[in-house]
Amino acid sequence: MQFAGQPAYGRTVTAAATTLRSQVFAILRPNDPGPAARRWRAIHLVVLFVGLLAVILLSVDELPGGRKFLLRGAIWGVTAFFLVEYIVRLWIAPEIPQFDELSPFRARLRWARTVPGLIGLLAVMPAALLVIGYGITGADTASVFCILWIMKLGLHAPAFGTLVRVISNERAPITSVLIVFAILLMSAATAAHMLERVAQPKAFGSLPDAMWWAVVTLTTTGYGDVVPVTPGGRIIGSLLMISGIAVLALMTGVLATGFAQEERRREYLRVWDQVSRVPLFTSLGVVTLSEIVGKLRTRYYPARVTVLRRGDPGDSMFFISNGECEVRLPNGAAVRLSDGAFFGEMALLNRQPRTASVATTKPTTMLVLYASDFYEIASHIPALAEAVEKEAKRRRDENLERQSGSSRQ
Ligand code: CMP
Repeated sequence: MQFAGQPAYGRTVTAAATTLRSQVFAILRPNDPGPAARRWRAIHLVVLFVGLLAVILLSVDELPGGRKFLLRGAIWGVTAFFLVEYIVRLWIAPEIPQFDELSPFRARLRWARTVPGLIGLLAVMPAALLVIGYGITGADTASVFCILWIMKLGLHAPAFGTLVRVISNERAPITSVLIVFAILLMSAATAAHMLERVAQPKAFGSLPDAMWWAVVTLTTTGYGDVVPVTPGGRIIGSLLMISGIAVLALMTGVLATGFAQEERRREYLRVWDQVSRVPLFTSLGVVTLSEIVGKLRTRYYPARVTVLRRGDPGDSMFFISNGECEVRLPNGAAVRLSDGAFFGEMALLNRQPRTASVATTKPTTMLVLYASDFYEIASHIPALAEAVEKEAKRRRDENLERQSGSSRQ
């Protein structure tokens, strides 16, 4: 039998649960710029650090028994923390936008199979070890925690996802460098095997042995456990060392360029996201806007942080996309600026030091435009330059008025 009020009651409960779930999701979402999410990430990092420290210290045999007891307690605590985190993350998985179309159960199952899901599961594996009675007795069990937990650190590195994308984007040059590496390795190993095997049958008697020497030399590691002794072997060794430096430099160059390009692309998207909140920009056409977006940088400031100081040289101006700042004028007055407002333009326009200090009153996300880019944009987009100049003039007049008002009193 169905009561009239039943469905409404059911809906209310679901709505409340969804709201709570989405709120928790917003906090646990990776890279969320919100203050609660930042606080959560800081707590998570501290817990992880405490756990790793406890595991590392537990492996020191000389530590007294009492201390070890404390460390084991810390490891238990950290494991319990990760277990709760894993369960909560499973619960909020249906909030992940990519899993929108899936049922909650399927969304959770899908999340459990993602890299963060698997890392989360691995991090709570020690709990399973404890439950089945292994106990945290010695260095061996402790080191398992160390390996499993250190992986969680990867989830804190925003560059981790970037690294995967860089490797994928740059797979062609990376493959080429690896092929050069393989050619050098095999040629040097074969040559050294032929030249050294009589003098050193143990170290160069087989190709795998010679390849070990070639890898150690080519990567510039140089353990020194195997050393060529014949003149021919030494020449090959010398050439291999020089080639090793060149190959490593090539790989570093490919990865560094890939990282820089990827970071520029990500920053571009972040700026696009923020730019729509600044009315000064939204009035511009898409083509003009895309030119500006490439020159802006996003910056996040916590509350009560000084962004610029009166008297400092002006090298940039700021657009508030989300948050609030306070301009502290020399006469003691203060002006609040919020979403969409800009500041720092006077020093750039007049090429003079900052006329006031500016600090955040709330956690604030801003877009920064450096002086050289500002002058370039101002010369290209007169409408923007005019709007900024007009506001700067209004502020200057207002400040003069305030000043003369306070001197009259
Ligand atoms: P700048 O002088 O570069 O650095 C301090 C900034 O405070 C200044 O640029 C302006 O952007 C801003 N500012 C100064 N006076 C006012 C005002 N009366 N109202 C709002 N902002 C101001």
